[in-house]
Amino acid sequence: MEIIQDIQAFQQRMLAERQQGKTISFVPTMGFLHQGHLSLLEEGRGRGDLLVLSIFVNPIQFGPNEDFDSYPRALQRDAELAAKTGVDILFAPDAEAMYPPGCATSVQVSGLTENLCGASRPGHFDGVTTVVNKLFNLVQPHVALFGMKDFQQLAVIRKMVADLNMPVKIIGMPIVREADGLAMSSRNTYLSPELRQQGLALIATIRTLCAAAVAGQRDAATLIAQARDFITTQPDARIDYIQICHDETLQDMDTVDEHSVVLLAVRFGETRLIDNHYLLQPEPA
Ligand code: PAF
Repeated sequence: MEIIQDIQAFQQRMLAERQQGKTISFVPTMGFLHQGHLSLLEEGRGRGDLLVLSIFVNPIQFGPNEDFDSYPRALQRDAELAAKTGVDILFAPDAEAMYPPGCATSVQVSGLTENLCGASRPGHFDGVTTVVNKLFNLVQPHVALFGMKDFQQLAVIRKMVADLNMPVKIIGMPIVREADGLAMSSRNTYLSPELRQQGLALIATIRTLCAAAVAGQRDAATLIAQARDFITTQPDARIDYIQICHDETLQDMDTVDEHSVVLLAVRFGETRLIDNHYLLQPEPA
């Protein structure tokens, strides 16, 4: 596996690979790789001749009081895992090179970005779509893979790609969970054992709501009230949102149908966890 940090060298290399007719699979990440990322890489490996991973903790998608400085970073460890998973090229640029002084362009998807995480993290999705756009321009991938844990991010990226006619196929991959059901996230490392235990309220809520919806409870307000009652029994939980939304428009729904996804964002202490599931699909194991 080759590690490239220089943007110009990386772009030239990717152009050369494309000119040779290679099919390029791309997995953009912020590093501190876990099994969720590895599942994207494994799927990507089978979908292209060349598998490219980027690791870049993107400063412009963090708010001023968010965890940019403390976000876990482990490039050496990630590189070893990536090599074992069959990555051909690891791109790890510097923030100064990605955003040199005078950089003045951003990409904004309106409509899908105001609700859910967009409401409590203003500017976050502009940061995501801007960096993903830059990365797509550098990599020129045929296929790019994203996890469904960031359900809203995936919807926003699909919309950007459709609206801007970007020639890349977006693949959404299922959430990977720990044995006890906690959705894998680089941020889980912030949790003390006590808070981690409380964080299992997310998967417990999802299971309860799915069971209720499948049994016939289709009133979204009733399901959300049930979820709130349960989550607030956890002493350190502060709910950011619990919503039932349409999977494509991300608008709130009154009545559950096959498009309904329950999305949750809850802080446990300082750590904000997110999770989601289609209500009428089988409960996560
Ligand atoms: O999901 C992430 O890790 C990031 O938001 C992404 C897509 C790599 C953009 O920085």
